[in-house]
Amino acid sequence: MQRFANKIAVVTGGGRGIGQEIARALAAEGAKVAVVSRSESSCGKAAEEINADFPGSCTAYAVDVADHAAVQELSKKIGDEIGAVNILVNNAGVTRDGLLMRMKEEDWDTVLDTNLKGAFNTVKAFMRPLMKAEDPRIINIASVVGIIGNAGQANYSASKAGLIGFTKAVARELSGRQVTCNAVAPGFIKTDMTDELTDAQKNAVVGNIPLGSFGETKDIAAMVAFLASKEARYITGQVFAVDGGMTM
Ligand SMILES: NC(=O)c1ccc[n+]([C@@H]2O[C@H](COP(=O)([O-])OP(=O)(O)OC[C@H]3O[C@@H](n4cnc5c(N)ncnc54)[C@H](OP(=O)(O)O)[C@@H]3O)[C@@H](O)[C@H]2O)c1
Repeated sequence: MQRFANKIAVVTGGGRGIGQEIARALAAEGAKVAVVSRSESSCGKAAEEINADFPGSCTAYAVDVADHAAVQELSKKIGDEIGAVNILVNNAGVTRDGLLMRMKEEDWDTVLDTNLKGAFNTVKAFMRPLMKAEDPRIINIASVVGIIGNAGQANYSASKAGLIGFTKAVARELSGRQVTCNAVAPGFIKTDMTDELTDAQKNAVVGNIPLGSFGETKDIAAMVAFLASKEARYITGQVFAVDGGMTM
């Protein structure tokens, strides 16, 4: 079944990890996908890899989502080059971990600017086409730490909690146009981001996951694809934890 035939999607942070898997899942079911990431090499490589399996599905765009003007320009470019967007996935995210006592102002600003302001920038830039689109969807990738917090991640937890509040406000504001807006809150997923953890930290984390292991990027992509589908039309303003039971 091609759930996304004739659909156009934008996936930020699509160059690696969870975002690349989301782009692949949407492309596999017929979507044309704009793969957006910070560096040209990363989004270019991701698009090339997905195009090898699903020819012509992906176009790469190197843009910093924290840059408001650049995201406005990106929206225009995607509109001209691919078409009007139906699905926006805000997945770009960074960490700058450290205990609050040692956290620098720039660590706070970088994380909030990317993870939270980045979503504000893209929703502002793409909301007009979304409001006119068929089956319009916004899906924000939050985190379980935006729900339960995490020592050493005050900046990241605040950005993800903010993203959850933003999700609910956007869901209410755009509901009249049938645009749904939901958040997915991953637990610990195997990507470059979690590769930074030491083995001792990984073991401690796994001890707190009822299902007993880190998740895979496919676990998140499957949830995003469902929320992006026609079948999810009556779901909005919700947060779905995909976390092996961590937050139950
Ligand atoms: N992995 C986990 O366990 C986990 C858990 C909970 C939530 N999440 C969230 O899931 C999302 C994806 O995580 P991941 O683990 O796949 O991360 P990742 O492997 O570190 O990849 C992050 C992606 O975001 C892009 N990105 C970062 N800053 C950007 C910016 N300013 N503008 C545009 N793109 C930017 C990166 O671009 P480049 O490739 O060009 O550098 C990269 O493609 C993030 O929002 C993260 O917070 C992850």
